[in-house]
Amino acid sequence: MSAYYRIAVDGFSSCGKSTLARQIAEVLGAVYIDSGAMYRAATLLAIQNNCIRDWHLDTGCFMPVIQRATIEFRTTDNHLLLNEKDVEKEIRSPEVADHVSEVASHGFIREIMVQMQRSYSEKSPVVMDGRDIGTHVFPDAEVKIFLTAEPRIRAERRYQELQEQSVNISFDEVFENVKKRDEKDQNRSVAPLRKADDAIEINNSYLSRSEQLEQALEIVHKKIGDV
Ligand code: DC
Repeated sequence: MSAYYRIAVDGFSSCGKSTLARQIAEVLGAVYIDSGAMYRAATLLAIQNNCIRDWHLDTGCFMPVIQRATIEFRTTDNHLLLNEKDVEKEIRSPEVADHVSEVASHGFIREIMVQMQRSYSEKSPVVMDGRDIGTHVFPDAEVKIFLTAEPRIRAERRYQELQEQSVNISFDEVFENVKKRDEKDQNRSVAPLRKADDAIEINNSYLSRSEQLEQALEIVHKKIGDV
């Protein structure tokens, strides 16, 4: 049992995990941790140090770099600080997005990230979103939520977001991409995405943001009472 409660929010890509996790943290006054942002920061660091060649991570090149790195979330605005520099914008770039699944597939990187994720939870209550939080990072988390939505609906949401950013892509391409990412997330050998046996599923296909928050808070209160 940890001194502070831990709430794990896992689920498929483009399903609104970070929105939900951020809202839960805000309501409860806990710290929100975006574990995907940490894998993105590691990827940015690998790119900056020329450790990615032909789409593969050169582990000999990257090991000493990542071991010396600091990855923190600034308390005032939750921006990710990589070696004390705000890289919130850079980690969302298409270049980082292209390489992050390769980087996140390496066991030694996952070990370092998991160690950092566990250390954050020693300082305050956390709401952490990701793929392996309830199964691996905090297998004994006080609350585990598994968020899902129908693939077509997730693709529609993602398509809408990309349209707003004026990205030139068809709906069919986005839909294919969502299905491919699901397949990859569920079938990779290291920390695959899977619902923890004791996680409670919320399918938000036909829920508004406030409805899904209401369901999540009900689960939280049932599990840990009024916090
Ligand atoms: O949630 P996101 O799209 O920002 O995640 C970025 C990448 O990191 C994505 O390829 C999945 C991976 N990831 C992971 O392997 N484990 C986590 N706990 C969180 C994200």
